[in-house]
Amino acid sequence: MTEERPKILVYTRRKDEAVFFGKFGRQYAVDVCEREEVPTVETAALAQGFSSISITTTPVGEPALKALRERGVGFVSTRSVGYDHIDLRAAKGLGIRVGNVSYAPDAVSNYTLMFILMAIRNIKNIARLALAQDYSIQSDFVQGRILRNLTVGIAGTGRIGRRVIDHLEGFGCGILAYDAHESEDLRRRVRYVGWEELCASCDIISLHMPAARDNHHIVNAASLAKMKDGVIIVNTARGSLIDTAAFMDAVESGKVGAAALDVVEEEGYLYYNNLRGKVLPNRDIAVLKSYPNVIVTPHTAFYTDQSISDMVENSIKSCIAFQRGGENPWEVRL
Ligand code: COI
Repeated sequence: MTEERPKILVYTRRKDEAVFFGKFGRQYAVDVCEREEVPTVETAALAQGFSSISITTTPVGEPALKALRERGVGFVSTRSVGYDHIDLRAAKGLGIRVGNVSYAPDAVSNYTLMFILMAIRNIKNIARLALAQDYSIQSDFVQGRILRNLTVGIAGTGRIGRRVIDHLEGFGCGILAYDAHESEDLRRRVRYVGWEELCASCDIISLHMPAARDNHHIVNAASLAKMKDGVIIVNTARGSLIDTAAFMDAVESGKVGAAALDVVEEEGYLYYNNLRGKVLPNRDIAVLKSYPNVIVTPHTAFYTDQSISDMVENSIKSCIAFQRGGENPWEVRL
């Protein structure tokens, strides 16, 4: 008996992913139906006849999951590490299994290092002043600091946080780490401390945790108050880790000396769309962008050629594993 050829419906397929879906679809002998629509109640009919779908990070709530289940979908693979955009409780209740993907942690960790360096060297100010042809040497706007003199706190020591530590080691700075689940081997390289000590002791705090109920707004008015005056905050993880209102108060009071944010709360419907000329329903992003010491980028830390290749390949492999009933290292425990 010949085994049925796996097939996958791909939602929200961007143009830059097409070459990889072509390449890995052929390599793994799978039929890939690529669509640009996002998964919603209205587009669920596209999934008729597919047991597995591959999606990106647009929010997928209970109504869309229900509609997909009714069309026969049993597995949702998101082409991202994070899966906080999927209503997992609803998926579990409907009997839908969920998977994420892994990709080289270097994309986000390289970007984090770039952010740390940009923040300590005041690059936003320097670039703005240079654009206005103001080339004066100014200690308050232009002068930077060197990493060797600073202590960096890594909050979250999974694959990305650990790779940031690899990078930082070459700079000779102090490194402290915080994670609810400490890694045995990392303990030999960095000192783990509690969240409060990390807040109190670091010049720079870089966030690398997944979004979860227990770390929602871990950076809030209380934790900001414990931080050093002029602390630098870097977030390449998830917007929900920072209470934006408290954070903006801390920037305005000078408690936060600089920040670099690749993610912000409520970014889900904005980022990855060309919204040129549109009125945007997120005032916080506009205000954050206006601060001279806060760098804001639209969730692009992941975006490298290697990441896209890995995301597409691993999403395909994950859907195949679901269909064949094999071991699936990306399946999320619900
Ligand atoms: C993730 O992989 O979780 C990311 O944050 C990148 C994603 C938005 C494509």
